[in-house]
Amino acid sequence: MSSQDVITVIEDVAEMKAYSNALRKEGKSIALVPTMGALHEGHLSLMREGRKRADILVVSIFVNPTQFGPSEDYNKYMRDREGDLEKMKNIGVDAVFMPGPDEIYPPGFQTYVQVEELEKPLCGALRPGHFRGVATVVLKLFNIVKADVALFGQKDYQQWKIIERMARDLNLDIEILGLPIVREETGLAMSSRNAYLSDQDTQRALSLSRALLEVKSQFANGTCKTESLVDSGKRVLERASVEDVDYLEIRDGETLQNKHEATGGDVAAVAARVGGARLIDNIIL
Ligand code: PAF
Repeated sequence: MSSQDVITVIEDVAEMKAYSNALRKEGKSIALVPTMGALHEGHLSLMREGRKRADILVVSIFVNPTQFGPSEDYNKYMRDREGDLEKMKNIGVDAVFMPGPDEIYPPGFQTYVQVEELEKPLCGALRPGHFRGVATVVLKLFNIVKADVALFGQKDYQQWKIIERMARDLNLDIEILGLPIVREETGLAMSSRNAYLSDQDTQRALSLSRALLEVKSQFANGTCKTESLVDSGKRVLERASVEDVDYLEIRDGETLQNKHEATGGDVAAVAARVGGARLIDNIIL
């Protein structure tokens, strides 16, 4: 058995801290890939990069209750411990931190982190409390795992920017890396929630990335008015009968502020419901 096949599974906070403290004492650096499990190629690409960035690679798997609204899919969210462990084989993951909800939120828990401005637009406007839950659990994971670097997917663009801001604002000694979206050959952004899609829904879901490509190509052809760019993207969604669109917007790539005129580096972001799934995607102009 190669050393890559042996993954230490840790379920409690004290044990995870002791594991990391011992390694840090030996002068080892630690990379963390935080996930909610239901792993796909997007997660694995973060792990492969994390493997290169530090001596030790830790993956966390925790379906975080505080980032789900009361009517969202917390209970339905896929949990596949054995399948996830199998997918991580041969990547070189050293340890998987898989705490239960009470380990992270013991009775009496009442402290939350809020990144005030960046969490207001886009998904934050439609999922109240979502980013507060994300920022809180990510800060807790950083403190427990004591990582030097943490890796996130750019598919959750707003989440990535919020975590970068939190790390800067709270003087955290951790490097935050955002890695490019991994897509199916069809262009569909990989997501654990794609599992909710029927074949027919999958076809409709392709229009999200196509709408973003249309926006980007109109921008490349000289259209700068964000209203016109957004309209061109929305027409692609309409043609695919994707009617339940939460937003398609162009925002400043760093501040996420609204723009009248788009410039390079802005982000075009979309969220829509297709079948039983709420999907998000984005592209940098
Ligand atoms: O992107 C995710 O999977 C989650 O939001 C994260 C960062 C693991 C926090 O629960």
